[in-house]
Order: sequence, then C-alpha cells, then structure tokens
Amino acid sequence: MQNFVFHNPTKILFGKNTVPAIGEETIAYGEKVLLVYGTGSIKKNGLYEQIIQSFKGVGAEITEHPGVQSNPLLSHTRKGIQLAKENNCQVVCAAGGGSVIDEAKAICAGATVQHDVWKFFTGKKSVKAPLPLTTVLTLAASGSEMNSGMVITNEETSQKFGFANKLLHPKTSILDPAVTCSVPADYTAYGAVDAVAHVLEFYFTTVDPCTPVQDRLMEGLVINAMESCNRVLKKLDDYQARADLMWTATLALNGLTGAGLGKVGFPMHMIEHSLSAFYNVPHGAGLSAVIPGWMRHYAQLNSKRFAQFAERVFDIREGSEEERASRGVEALSAWFTKVNSPTTLTTLEIPKDDIPRIAENALALANVWRMADYDKDKIETILGNCL
Ligand code: NZQ
Ligand code: ZN
Repeated sequence: MQNFVFHNPTKILFGKNTVPAIGEETIAYGEKVLLVYGTGSIKKNGLYEQIIQSFKGVGAEITEHPGVQSNPLLSHTRKGIQLAKENNCQVVCAAGGGSVIDEAKAICAGATVQHDVWKFFTGKKSVKAPLPLTTVLTLAASGSEMNSGMVITNEETSQKFGFANKLLHPKTSILDPAVTCSVPADYTAYGAVDAVAHVLEFYFTTVDPCTPVQDRLMEGLVINAMESCNRVLKKLDDYQARADLMWTATLALNGLTGAGLGKVGFPMHMIEHSLSAFYNVPHGAGLSAVIPGWMRHYAQLNSKRFAQFAERVFDIREGSEEERASRGVEALSAWFTKVNSPTTLTTLEIPKDDIPRIAENALALANVWRMADYDKDKIETILGNCL
C-alpha cells in the first residue's frame, strides 16, 4: 500500500427524480448559466424540458451551447468559451455523457483565461481559476461526472489529448439512472467497456506487489460492470440494472481504485485515443479492439497478475499460471464479443497499413503523459496483436 491523498470534492445526487435539483445546485454559483449539451438526445428523452423548468424555477439566465459531438472537438469547445465570455457566464451546466461533460470542463478552464484552451492539453499552461461546473449525467461510461479529467480532439492536428486538474471536478453531479434508459444497446455496451477499461488500466499497471484492498474493489467493479451491462442489454429500461451500471462506471474512475496503488499508467487509452482521433470510433468500441491485444502482450510478462484476474473475475482455476493468464484475456475478449463491442482493428475496418501512423500519433500522447516505457515499436507491436 503506497501513501496517498484521496479527496473527491464532487457532491453526487443519485437516484430517481434527482434532476429537478439541478437549478438549486447550479444557481449556488451564479445566475448566468452556460448550458452545454449534445446533438439532441436530451430533447428526445424529455430531460431538456426538466432542466429548463428547474432553471426557470430559480430565476437563472441561460445561454445554450448545444451540438457537442461524441469525441468532442476543439473548434466547438472554442465556440463555447467565446459564448461564455460574451454572456459573462458565472457557471457551466453539462447535460450529457462524457463528451458533453468533458467539453464543459474545457470551457470552464478556457473561459477565464486569454490564451487558447489547447495550451492546457499540451501542458504549456495550467488551470488556475476555472468557472464552476455542475452536471446531469445521461450515459454510464466515462466517470467524468466525478473526476477532474477531460479529453478533447484537436481536429487540425488529429490529436485527441486529455489532462486532469483537481479544480475541474464538478461541484455537483446528478445521476438519475432513469435518464440512461434511452441509451441504445451499442452505447450501453461501449460505456460498460469503458468502465472496465478504467479499472484494468490501474489493475495491470500498478507495480506495488501487495494491494489486496484495491484488487478486490477493482475485481468487483469489473464483475459488476459486466453483469449489470448483461442485465441492461436484456431489458433496456431495467432501472436497477441501469443504477448498478451507472454507479459502477462512476466508481471506476473517481480516484478510489487508484488510492494506494502508487504510480499507474493509462496505456490502453493512450492507444485508443488515436483510433477515436483518426476514425471517430466510439471510445468504448476502440477500447475493446485494443484491450485484448494489449493484454496478450503483457500477460506474457506478468502471468501472475493476469492469472489472479482470470481466477477472481472469471473463476478460471485450471492449468498452469501462463495458461490461466491467457484464458483470462480470452474470456474478457469473449465478453466484448457477447455485448457486440468490436475486438479487432479489422472489425473496425482499420487497415493494417495504418498501424505506423496510429503508433506515431499515440506516441505523441505518451510523451505528453510522460509514459517513458512506450516507444513507437512497442505501440506497433501491441497494435499488431489487435488486428
Ligand atoms: O449527442 P448526444 O445527444 O449527447 O448523444 C449521445 C452520443 O451520441 C448519446 N447519448 C448520451 N446520453 C444518452 C444518449 N442517447 C440516448 N439517451 C441518453 N441518455 O450517446 C452518444 C455517446 O455519448 P458520449 O458522451 O460521447 O459517450 P461517453 O459518455 O462514452 O463519452 C465518451 C467521451 O468521454 C471521454 C472519451 O474520450 C470520449 O470523448 N472520456 C472521458 C474521461 C474522463 N473525463 O475522465 C475518461 C474516459 O476514459 C474517456 O476518455
Ligand atoms: Zn475511457
């Protein structure tokens, strides 16, 4: 167990009929609100009306910034920053999934500085005094509702970069599982894959040899993500299953799993972000295509850890340590296939010849994230396992 500081300042309102509280929770930071949302799902499922009613009830002055797309773009973020400045917005409210919340975080950071917001993503500037943020989460996946990270694609350079700053934690996030019942089967599965990936990134990159508390927490989150996803895919409006999946995805990347692990990495995401940047692949779908290949590479180097994963998550007990390790990887890959999330670059129609340029792009992010143990050859080898 390594030393750690665990401080997550985001207040969570979880459960049925929590959305009407968004007005009170937001106006605590100012009456001039920038409302950020996506391409229309909140209008189709009635959430937009609920939010507007709540803001009207507290006399908030709303400026809307709709049109955030999945894998949010720097150009749209810049427009949101300009809107926030022109309307002297004092607080931002995001209603959507990880893409909407991430773009809103970047707007919070960019709205109070004169330099371009992309400088935060390349490490050239650090966040000092961002606007406050509240959120209404509509998709169980990214964990952005309860963390300080965000990811934006610079479409001019085809770079999808992410950074975190504790000042960008949402002040309040409202998680009503009923709001996620309109998420279709494919994005439900991609979201569960993303939650599993957030756990595995830390589970397989920690170098601390003895982390029993975190291991059981992480293994339980992976099991819950898979089981609750399976239940949702059987019945998309199963409230309890949606609730289990939603809270699992939030816990998977809110700092709790990493507390005490010491230094960890985010290599599967480092590689996946290039797939989303180049091919606009849904984040979870890109991850399920990368994870098995990455795991096959590392299972050979650390069969003990992978065999523990196989036993604790899939109850695989027979065979040598190497055999169990490998069967655990294939069992996870089989679950990705079961929920119709792609497990190879070929399924994503990403040609083998593109591997060098994908690796080049991913290496740029590895450098920003200071992942010294990754070079272009290693990334190409891992991508070669994902074909
Ligand atoms: O455009 P809208 O209307 O929002 O439609 C979205 C979008 O088309 C739709 N959707 C969302 N909620 C819905 C719904 N459709 C029906 N009913 C609902 N209730 O689903 C599509 C995908 O939405 P998106 O927000 O893109 O998905 P997700 O939540 O998976 O977010 C993905 C983004 O999160 C970033 C990813 O890189 C990606 O850009 N991540 C953020 C992280 C963080 N901040 O910590 C970490 C993650 O690893 C991830 O990188
Ligand atoms: Zn992710």
